[in-house]
Amino acid sequence: MAGGEQIGAIWRRTSALIDRLDARLLLQQVCGCTYAELIAHPERTLTAAQCVEFDALMARRVAGEPLAYLLGSAFFAGLEFAVSPDVLIPRPETEVLVGEAQRLARNLDAPRIVDLGTGAGIVAIVLARLCPSAQVTAVDLSSAALAIARANAARHGATIRFLHGDWYEPLGEERFDLIVSNPPYVADGDPHLRRDGLPFEPQIALTDGIAGGDGLACIRRIVAAAAEHLLPGGWLLIEHGYDQAVEVSILLSRAGFSEIGSWRDSAAIARVTGGVLTAATGRATLVS
Ligand SMILES: C[S@@+](CC[C@H](N)C(=O)[O-])C[C@H]1O[C@@H](n2cnc3c(N)ncnc32)[C@H](O)[C@@H]1O
Repeated sequence: MAGGEQIGAIWRRTSALIDRLDARLLLQQVCGCTYAELIAHPERTLTAAQCVEFDALMARRVAGEPLAYLLGSAFFAGLEFAVSPDVLIPRPETEVLVGEAQRLARNLDAPRIVDLGTGAGIVAIVLARLCPSAQVTAVDLSSAALAIARANAARHGATIRFLHGDWYEPLGEERFDLIVSNPPYVADGDPHLRRDGLPFEPQIALTDGIAGGDGLACIRRIVAAAAEHLLPGGWLLIEHGYDQAVEVSILLSRAGFSEIGSWRDSAAIARVTGGVLTAATGRATLVS
């Protein structure tokens, strides 16, 4: 497209190619204007550079890249977070994990909370804001994800200790009142990985990469070592796949957890399963 095209014309031209809301948000991004300004001035003309930028973004959207990556941000729990292809795009289901964690944390004085696999930091940051007395730690294996999480924490004024490493490894022998995690849980080879923009998201955030596995390898590791990192009476809450609640409950039960329960998302799917460890001890057996 050459420079000089009017917003109204662009809007009409793109409506057959991408969702109208997507087109609108991309146009706002390129023009640096609000929705009101956009519709109030359909005669406004984009510069040649803006036209090139818009067409490039639209081509990526047509190719299936998630809008959040094109805009560089996504909303979670009413807050805007920076995202890039280095982090999973926040999902509304994860609000179930945050809600249950907040319910448990509010009964505690200065609770120690760790978020394993923090990604863009959404769980840790929202919890830190909801529970100002909490000491929140966040771990991720991806340094690129941690850089984004740190920036998001600064943006939202959340004080969080970010650690780089493999699940509990950077925590040494520290123990917590609450361990929360939304780990990778999609089975390698699951057809969902090829749909709905998932090919554009970091595979380390989606799947354990174990060919022929059931997607539960990360959850098994997190459950097995939880006893070494929970204080007596501490809780472990794990977000999981739509069909994994029973398996996760069994893993928790075998690892010595009690009061095991699952919590449903807005689609009535059991999304988060957790339990309490009344007597925190040493290593549990890695059960399959
Ligand atoms: C499903 S994403 C969750 C991101 C974020 N907590 C959320 O809910 O949007 C899983 C995260 O776990 C991280 N991860 C994967 N393997 C890990 C490991 N072995 N140790 C620590 N983090 C890991 C990934 O980098 C990714 O950020």
